[in-house]
Amino acid sequence: MSSEARTDFICINCKTELMLVSDTFHCGSCQQEYLVFDKVCLLVDKPMAYVAESYFLYKAHIRAQRNEVKKLKSYFEGKKEKAGIINNLIIAIEHNAGLVEQITKKLLPHVAPELLFQAQTNPTNQFSDYLKDFRYMRRDWVWDKEGELQLAIINQSLKETIQTSITQPTNVLVLGAGLGRIAYDLSDSFEKVYATDYSFSMAHFFQRLTCEEILFYEVNTNNIYSNTDYTRKLKASVSAPFNKQDSLTKDIRKVEYFIADVQRLPLKDKSVSCVVSAYFTDVLAWKLWFKEVKRVLKDGGLFIHFGPLGYPFGDVSERLSAESIKYQLLKDGFQICTDDRVSTKHLDSITSMETSLHSCWLLGARKEPTDTSLEPKQLTSLSVLAIAKELSYRITGQIGLTSLVHEADTETETTELIFDHDQVYTGAGVALVILKLINGRRNLEQIMEQLSVLYQIGETETDHIYRTIRDLIEKSIVKIN
Ligand SMILES: C[S@@+](CC[C@H](N)C(=O)[O-])C[C@H]1O[C@@H](n2cnc3c(N)ncnc32)[C@H](O)[C@@H]1O
Repeated sequence: MSSEARTDFICINCKTELMLVSDTFHCGSCQQEYLVFDKVCLLVDKPMAYVAESYFLYKAHIRAQRNEVKKLKSYFEGKKEKAGIINNLIIAIEHNAGLVEQITKKLLPHVAPELLFQAQTNPTNQFSDYLKDFRYMRRDWVWDKEGELQLAIINQSLKETIQTSITQPTNVLVLGAGLGRIAYDLSDSFEKVYATDYSFSMAHFFQRLTCEEILFYEVNTNNIYSNTDYTRKLKASVSAPFNKQDSLTKDIRKVEYFIADVQRLPLKDKSVSCVVSAYFTDVLAWKLWFKEVKRVLKDGGLFIHFGPLGYPFGDVSERLSAESIKYQLLKDGFQICTDDRVSTKHLDSITSMETSLHSCWLLGARKEPTDTSLEPKQLTSLSVLAIAKELSYRITGQIGLTSLVHEADTETETTELIFDHDQVYTGAGVALVILKLINGRRNLEQIMEQLSVLYQIGETETDHIYRTIRDLIEKSIVKIN
């Protein structure tokens, strides 16, 4: 039995490096086994429950598609002039359902019957519709004009952000990677591309495409102009029929696709140079997954968001604006390097009269290297701050955050803080406001909250407050409790 240590993947549960033992990832510490299907590793918390749930959902999708066919037959009954349309629709729906059925056949041998009965099913039955995978398959691997146009805009935006923000891009992680084209397009800029998604079918189709072409149908029943647009037979392939230069510089073998939940990434701390979230940030509440991104990013590593903020979930308080995301990033020690808007038509197709035009937000944020002068305790949003020494102050200028605006004005710079008997901290208007809130019990996040009640705090102010706090710690005026 061959076994190989994988120094990049770690166990979700105990964070030990995984071993690849004859096609199964094994954790030598907690003994957790992770299945590998056609070279795609299933690096999730409860692999067996995941398999059962996925099987159940794809079965439900197939059933829904077959019911759809029955309904179509009854709608079109007696309408002989429409026989061509219905036949084409039936062929297309059954063909696509057949592709999904092949997935269930792969899963079935690993489905534990007792888990199948407990499987969490999606109450809204998201799979009853035309599977989202086929929409992304068309955009990503059919090489048609509409898809390529959107991909070129995404690719150019990501590349420009990378080129201007990181000097040594070694590896990248693409979150919610879908059918994998965005990951593939990044393979000319990195030595290694990790692509991850929680969907088994997305991973399956990507892996299958690395070995063979897939024939499938685009199905439209709304917003079509011509009767021939109801269905379109398409061929997905990873080899571009044009632009040979691209296939020389990009390499699908550099893309390692694995199944994982972004909330628990199986990668080591500080191991990735860049994390890309394209059309993904709004899928889950930021607070649920960004801490994992921060954990796996190297110091100086880059986080890129590209896409809308069109949150499909109910909790309005978690539907963060771009400004709130920037605020969270600054709080987490990131520096904003790109902040732009880029228009794209999303999943546009020649056979549909429907177009979604997104004014996508492009954000690049670099994780600032941790300030080693703060060792051994690092400043985080949960750090409780206390005043470390006796202080006196002399106010002859402004105090409060408004003093930030007048920072360079000599007349207002005279607010002074005196420490260590004769040391003078000039321009201490902001420092004094912060010091008033530091009481040895509040953490940084609570201090920021208090400040935002008292003042309008935007990006500039947040940046300044953090710099001031770091400065106060460096001068040993403030300590981390
Ligand atoms: C809107 S699609 C975007 C796909 C891809 N980023 C693209 O633009 O081509 C969002 C993707 O996120 C994946 N996803 C949803 N929740 C996830 C999670 N918790 N962890 C990882 N991926 C997830 C979905 O399966 C889906 O493929």
